[in-house]
Amino acid sequence: MTLRNTWLLARGFHAPVCGAVEVLEDVLIAIGAGGFIADVVYPNEERFGALKSEAEQQGILEKLPDGGYLLPGFVDCHVHAPQYPQLGSALDVPLEVWLHRYTFPLEARFADLSYARRAYDLLVTDLLSNGTTTALYFATIHQEATRLLADICLSKGQRALVGKVAMDHPENCPDYYRDASPEAAIEGTRALIDYIFAHPVNGEGLVKPVITPRFIPACTDAALEGLGRLAQECGCHVQTHCSESDWEHGYVLDRHGMTDAASLDRFGLLGRKTMLAHSNFLTPSDMELMKVREAAVAHCPLSNAFFAGAVFPLRAALEKGLHVGLGTDISGGPSASMFEASRNAITVSRMLETGVDPEKPAAERASGQPARIDFRQAFHVATAGGAKALDLPVGQFAPGYAFDAILIDCHAPGGTIRLWDEAETGDDLLQRIIFTASKGNIAKVWVAGREVAGTHATA
Ligand code: GUN
Ligand code: FE
Repeated sequence: MTLRNTWLLARGFHAPVCGAVEVLEDVLIAIGAGGFIADVVYPNEERFGALKSEAEQQGILEKLPDGGYLLPGFVDCHVHAPQYPQLGSALDVPLEVWLHRYTFPLEARFADLSYARRAYDLLVTDLLSNGTTTALYFATIHQEATRLLADICLSKGQRALVGKVAMDHPENCPDYYRDASPEAAIEGTRALIDYIFAHPVNGEGLVKPVITPRFIPACTDAALEGLGRLAQECGCHVQTHCSESDWEHGYVLDRHGMTDAASLDRFGLLGRKTMLAHSNFLTPSDMELMKVREAAVAHCPLSNAFFAGAVFPLRAALEKGLHVGLGTDISGGPSASMFEASRNAITVSRMLETGVDPEKPAAERASGQPARIDFRQAFHVATAGGAKALDLPVGQFAPGYAFDAILIDCHAPGGTIRLWDEAETGDDLLQRIIFTASKGNIAKVWVAGREVAGTHATA
C-alpha cells in the first residue's frame, strides 16, 4: 500500500533528540505526493477532529492495525554490500589477515555481474525486510557491479548511498583486486557519481553517490588527494574507515605521522557529509576536529568486537555533540539487523563502563567513566542520529521529512516480541521492541511513502 496523498492515523515512537523518546499516540500524519510528511497533527490540537473526519470522508485515512506501532526506518551507516555472501563466517583472524585471506578474494568476484546480481538482490531485499530503509554502502572497485547495486536499490525502492571503493596502493592491495592507478581510482569514482546523478529513474534522488577511499592503508596519497579534490568539487558524501584497529591506527601514524582523522582532513576528506566507520581510537583532538568539521562516526559495535579489540566510546562522543550513526558493518559484523546493532551498542556500552576482567576487583575493573547508553540513545542513533549524520531528511515523523517507516506487529506469531498481561505503555513498550523484535515483527516497510517490504506486504 503506497501511502502517498494519504492521512495515516498512527501510534508509535520516534527519537528526534538523543536520549528522549517521543511516544506518538494516535497522531495524524499527512503524507504528500512525493512521499514527504506534510503535516503531523496531535490529538490535543483543535484541528485534529475536523481533519480526521475530512480525511475519512474523502477515503484517504489509513489506520494501523491493533498491536501495530510505527517506528522510523533504520539508517544503517556502514554496510559492505559485496561481503553479504560471507555473513557469519571468516571471523577468526585479525583485520589485516581477514582482508587478504577472505575479503579481497570475495570482493574480486564482483567482476562477474551475475554473481553481483545474486548477492546484491538478496542483500537489498533482506535489509529492507529487516527495516533498513537507508543504507550507506561500500561496493567494490568495479564500475559495472557498483552501478548494478545502485540500480537494484532504485528498483527495490531502498534509499541508499553507494560508493565505488577506491583502493590503489600496490603494497597493501593485491594485484588481482586494485585500482590500476590513482587516476583510475579517481576517474572511476567520478564515473559512478555521474552515472547516479544522471540515472533515469533517480529523479527523486533516492540513491546518492559516495566518495569511498577504502581506508588510508589501501590508498596512495595521490588517490587521497584527488578524491579530496573531487569531494570539494562535487559536494558529495564521503565514507572511509578510520582508526579501526591497533594495526590500522598504527599504520597511519607511521606513514603519515598523524592520526587518520587529521590526515583525512588535510586531504579535504573530512566534512559535513563524511562518515568515518569505527573511529575507535580517536584522540581528544580528533574528536574536536570532527566536531568542528561536523563529520560523523558510524559506530559498528558487533564488528568492533571481532576486529577492533576496543569499544567506541559512544556516550562520550554523543555528550561531546559529535554526529554518530549506527552500522552493521556487514560482514565484519555478522548480522544484517539494525535491531541487533542497537542491542549490541547497548551491551558493549555497559561492558565499557563496568570493565570485563573478573580477576580484578570491581573498582579496578571499571573504566571509571560513565559509558552506558540505554535503548533510548540506541534508538536515536539507529534512526534520527544516523539520518542527521548523513544530512538526510529521514529518521523522524515531522513535516519536511520523508516518510521512511516500519510497522512493528507486536502480536506476530512468527515474531519474537511477547507481551504479557500487564498493559505495556509508554517507552517501556519501545524498550521491549528494541530488545526483542526481529524480522518476523516487521509487518510493513515504507520508503518515501512507498511500501517496499514486510511480512504483511500488500504492495
Ligand atoms: N578496513 C578496510 N576495509 C575494511 C572492511 O572491509 N571491513 C572492515 N571492518 N574494516 C575495513
Ligand atoms: Fe567496514
